[in-house]
Amino acid sequence: MAHNGSVSSLGKLEGKVAIVTGGASGIGEATAHAFADHGARAVVIIDLQDEKGQIVAESIGLERCSYLHCDVSDEEQVKNVVDWTVQKYGQLDIMFSNAGITSKGEQTILDLDFSGFDNLFKVNVRGMAICVKHAARAMVEKNVRGTIVCTSSAVANNCRGSVNVTDYTMSKNAVVGLVRTAGQQLGVHGIRVNCVSPSMTLTPLSASIGITSQEVIQKVFGPFTSLKGVVLTVKHLADAVIFLTSEDSAFITGHDLVVDGGLISIPHMILPQN
Ligand SMILES: NC(=O)c1ccc[n+]([C@@H]2O[C@H](COP(=O)([O-])OP(=O)(O)OC[C@H]3O[C@@H](n4cnc5c(N)ncnc54)[C@H](O)[C@@H]3O)[C@@H](O)[C@H]2O)c1
Repeated sequence: MAHNGSVSSLGKLEGKVAIVTGGASGIGEATAHAFADHGARAVVIIDLQDEKGQIVAESIGLERCSYLHCDVSDEEQVKNVVDWTVQKYGQLDIMFSNAGITSKGEQTILDLDFSGFDNLFKVNVRGMAICVKHAARAMVEKNVRGTIVCTSSAVANNCRGSVNVTDYTMSKNAVVGLVRTAGQQLGVHGIRVNCVSPSMTLTPLSASIGITSQEVIQKVFGPFTSLKGVVLTVKHLADAVIFLTSEDSAFITGHDLVVDGGLISIPHMILPQN
């Protein structure tokens, strides 16, 4: 029985050791649960939200889930978490590099604010690269044919870009570039690197830009989504990550798995101004 009560084919990650960044909330939280449901022997959650992270770890069970405070944009902190994991569990099989932040408000290229830009890139781009680097080094060192999955976004797949969110769109395109590049470079070690690209789903991050219910998602994104009668949930994304981290995707690397119900274009959203 999965944590959400649904019956599914579990056991796809039997005995694996996984790190989930941004695991205290939203997509990371759901995926940490899914990893445990699928038989991972250890799930290490890292985040900045200590109280929420600890609660998630306890709900999974402290015998196989730990929460560690770690800022993904700080290389030393990430390296320490990876080292701690390898020391405690012998190896690292899976890195779900998912932590990310969103834009503080609307900006076209004409009014791009570089302090916001630098802060966003520090987490969304530098943080992703740091996590991929140190996970890959640990896997290579222990000769583990591991899997790395990053979280990009459907905004990175929209060929026309975004009309009003410049920095976030750029940062998520960079994640796809990281995944393709690292996927090519790490193939020789048997390490696969992929990403998931969600459209809008209800989490504290989406709530912070005014997407506060499934109804709002349906209203704003529904008209631009090919697939009708379903709204994206964190469970859909956890399922996609399970696919990319399991043997089900054994010959897939450098791939961007778009989970957007066939999004036709990114709707123009009015973001709250900071
Ligand atoms: N929710 C969506 O609609 C959506 C759509 C596309 C992409 N995404 C991406 O999905 C990922 C997860 O977002 P979410 O929607 O679950 O949001 P969320 O806010 O629920 O979760 C993100 C988590 O990352 C953590 N975090 C932020 N900065 C960090 C840092 N420097 N170090 C460690 N942890 C940090 C936060 O504390 C939070 O717990 C992000 O990369 C986001 O850009 C989300």
